Amino acid sequence: MKIKKLITKKEIEKKIKNLAKQISNDYKEKDIEIICVLKGAAIFAVELSMQIKTNVRFEFIEISSYEGTESTGKIKVNKDITSSIEGKDVLIVEDIIDTGRTLSYLKEYILSKNPASLKICTLVDKRERRLVDVEVDYNGFVIEDKFIVGHGFDLDGNYRNLPYIGTIEK
Ligand code: IMP
Ligand code: MG
Repeated sequence: MKIKKLITKKEIEKKIKNLAKQISNDYKEKDIEIICVLKGAAIFAVELSMQIKTNVRFEFIEISSYEGTESTGKIKVNKDITSSIEGKDVLIVEDIIDTGRTLSYLKEYILSKNPASLKICTLVDKRERRLVDVEVDYNGFVIEDKFIVGHGFDLDGNYRNLPYIGTIEK
């Protein structure tokens, strides 16, 4: 399998710095409760948090979609957060928004736990694939409909540790 570079390590670093700057400006002195969506967003969330100027606390959640007979994209929580986020300023950090199903479900789920505020940050947006409308507050790269690996993105669990983002060449 050949992987073709799409976004370099340098470009990712620059983008993350920029996102962190916006987030630092918006939250000012407030603590941020990052909810990192496992496993894909782990690398991004760590790198982003280290560039944010205000205090960051971490929660982790893992969700997956059922592959139903009709592709309704039902989603379930595999691993839940372990602390209360009631009254906290929550920032969901996700690797990619594709159809939007995962984030729209997650947003409702987190809102049901009564945070003081909720924003969403994604590294990549495959905008043309959107089926469910979800507002993303901070987004890194908009890409076309290509399957990507590296910097957290996987193909069957592989390639997450590549320092760049690439596309699979057949
Ligand atoms: P959505 O629910 O369709 O928005 O799907 C989002 C999820 O699909 C992400 O959290 C990723 O886990 C996965 N995903 C979507 N596109 C890609 C890709 O190009 N590479 C790797 N994972 C992807
Ligand atoms: Mg994911």
